[in-house]
Amino acid sequence: MAADGDSTDRARGTAGYARAADALAVQYEEVTFGEVHCDVLGLVPSGPARILDVGAGTGRDAAALVALGHSVVAVEPTTELRVHGQRIHAGSAIDWVDDVLPGLTLNQCPGRFDAVFATGVWMHLNAEERGHAMARIAALLMPGGRFFVNLRHGPVPEGRHMFDVSAAETAELGAAHGLRTVLSSERSDLHGRDGVRWSTLVLQAKNARRALD
Ligand SMILES: C[S@@+](CC[C@H](N)C(=O)[O-])C[C@H]1O[C@@H](n2cnc3c(N)ncnc32)[C@H](O)[C@@H]1O
Repeated sequence: MAADGDSTDRARGTAGYARAADALAVQYEEVTFGEVHCDVLGLVPSGPARILDVGAGTGRDAAALVALGHSVVAVEPTTELRVHGQRIHAGSAIDWVDDVLPGLTLNQCPGRFDAVFATGVWMHLNAEERGHAMARIAALLMPGGRFFVNLRHGPVPEGRHMFDVSAAETAELGAAHGLRTVLSSERSDLHGRDGVRWSTLVLQAKNARRALD
């Protein structure tokens, strides 16, 4: 949980990412959106939708979602990763934003989203930040909108600021903010790292009719 000088209080969770950005830019793009999100593909909006990817890294998922016809805002607070993403996906209409959970002001991109992705990000937030972040994301979802969360479990890489966050806790926190768990699954690490496992959850906002009940 050590900070390494390349993050600030604005986003302690970004500790370690700037200095490793060149290598991570290669690693993140070695796997595909379809592989990372294989368990939830059936829940990704099928028609053109407005989608937010928070902690987008190099924009692998954002670019895939744009290619599927969606309008995508990619939030990435680590400048070095954002710059790699803008280079790698230069031909993609991703709307890149420098912002950070839990506040996520999105001043340049107001309005709500049909889906929000947070892949490998949530366990960088402490308990208080997770509470604020869940409230913020619930407020950003359209009625019936879905929050796709991916949690990393296992050893913490050197210099990263990470917490052990369970799927059960995340589902409970979502429920406290009106989000129902519609899918929960676990998988091994696509990069084959020792002891690393991943949980996937899809949390859904009430639809418009039920919201009025
Ligand atoms: C493990 S990487 C995942 C990147 C990308 N989602 C992927 O799957 O390839 C985690 C990302 O979350 C970002 N991050 C860390 N703390 C954050 C925060 N508080 N708000 C938004 N993003 C954050 C980091 O800068 C990093 O790009």
